[in-house]
Amino acid sequence: AADELHGTVSPNDIDVVISKNLYGQFAEHLGNSIYEGIWVGRDSDIPNTRGIRNDVVAALKEIKVPVVRWPGGCFADEYDWRDGIGDPQTRPMRKNNWWGGTPEPNSFGTHEFFDFAEQIGADAYVSVNVASSTPMAMREWIEYMTSTGNDDLAQERRKNGRDAPFDLKYVGIGNESWGCGGFMTAEYYANRYRRFASFFHKNGSNFHMNNDNKAIRVASGANNLDTNWTDTVMTSAGNVMDAISLHFYTLHTGNWPERDKAAATGFNDTQWNGILYQASRMEDVLEQHEAVMDRIDPEKRISLYVDEWGTWYAPEKGTNPAFLYQQNTLRDALVAGITFNIFHQHADRVGMANIAQAVNVLQAMILTDGADMAKTPTFYAFRMFTPFQESTRLDTNFISPMISSEEGDYPAITLSAATTTKNETVIGLTNASLFDPHTITLSLKDIEGTSVSGEILTHSKLDAHNRPGEQEQIAPAVFDGAKIKGNKLTIELPAKSVVVLKVR
Ligand code: AHR
Repeated sequence: AADELHGTVSPNDIDVVISKNLYGQFAEHLGNSIYEGIWVGRDSDIPNTRGIRNDVVAALKEIKVPVVRWPGGCFADEYDWRDGIGDPQTRPMRKNNWWGGTPEPNSFGTHEFFDFAEQIGADAYVSVNVASSTPMAMREWIEYMTSTGNDDLAQERRKNGRDAPFDLKYVGIGNESWGCGGFMTAEYYANRYRRFASFFHKNGSNFHMNNDNKAIRVASGANNLDTNWTDTVMTSAGNVMDAISLHFYTLHTGNWPERDKAAATGFNDTQWNGILYQASRMEDVLEQHEAVMDRIDPEKRISLYVDEWGTWYAPEKGTNPAFLYQQNTLRDALVAGITFNIFHQHADRVGMANIAQAVNVLQAMILTDGADMAKTPTFYAFRMFTPFQESTRLDTNFISPMISSEEGDYPAITLSAATTTKNETVIGLTNASLFDPHTITLSLKDIEGTSVSGEILTHSKLDAHNRPGEQEQIAPAVFDGAKIKGNKLTIELPAKSVVVLKVR
């Protein structure tokens, strides 16, 4: 048949591990992300453990969240960590100036964040305030979190109920420092970063032997295709960083001012293709930043963390526009699957990615409405791809037909494959075609396996979605469209679908 496509899957000469951290999350003090979405307080009627919602924790455990970034986002560069510790009754009420000027009660602070991370089994990634605070404040917060000694900050932490230090794995030194995080030039940020890095007191750096702070230092990185930022910051401060971030959002026409023109639901075929084209640009964006990084750091010591990514549409009608609440449909699941397959191909440099955001904000995993909760199609894409966490990438050789959109051409099909930690072969596929199913035959070279099973996420409606309190419309189903015969794996891949297969 004309649409029969062929490819190969084979082991790689060099082992590239797909970090579990590519499946990371981001939770900011923004709209109903933290308050209502995660934190309901100990006295709430909504079932909770020490104030953190049980339903949300259980859902996030299902997708095996490896790492969670907090407290922002833009919020981080206005946050005073001291506001969020100590007796909750006496914590100050602040204004959340970036996100609607709403009251910030500080009931969710450092201890509550680590409790949340520990409840969902994720590592902690804390962003510190670089734009409106000082290296001293950062040093004190880190000491408060990590010190094992008898110093006052460690004692204060103990007095506040936590004897053992918190396991602080990652620290973001600033956020979008070119934008809401200080509107800095790359040169200015690089100098400021160096100053902060010198008071970071990371174990093993300079004279620091057996220091308590072992966190990975993450420099605030570029937006989209701004490779000059990556170049300048890495050239100037690469010797005192472990990772640099990158933010890339999927926006209507790719432009911020246009984002409000794209509806999250009720879109047409053109808008389906426009957004999926924009999502597929992640490939080019990564390639361009990696080219800069490869020149400055050919050993790949410095990792690239895409610590904000996802779709950004017009806010849902009737909601506070500053809360960035949007619905999440089959199209978002395609965005997620396409992005995962791109990340896998770049796993030798991209060591972390954090979708924006976990609950109730932008491309969320979970939407809540009071006591009700819905799992979004993006949630299900994350769940289907969990076998890729810590897997070893396989080589895939496959050429996809292209889809023409008004904004540009993009591949109809993406795929990636890996050997899981259980020694199975996992294959992730997306088909963005609105009408065309495809038959794909993959030759598996030097790969064992006689049986194949899988799951599919698809729906007849482009904007199928789930709402809290309503019956679920869209969820994964068993996929029986793949057959294995000898070393040939044949997949009947339906239109507009995300499929994950396991060969055993
Ligand atoms: O995720 C929402 C916002 O997007 C973040 O606060 C900011 O870093 C980015 O501009």
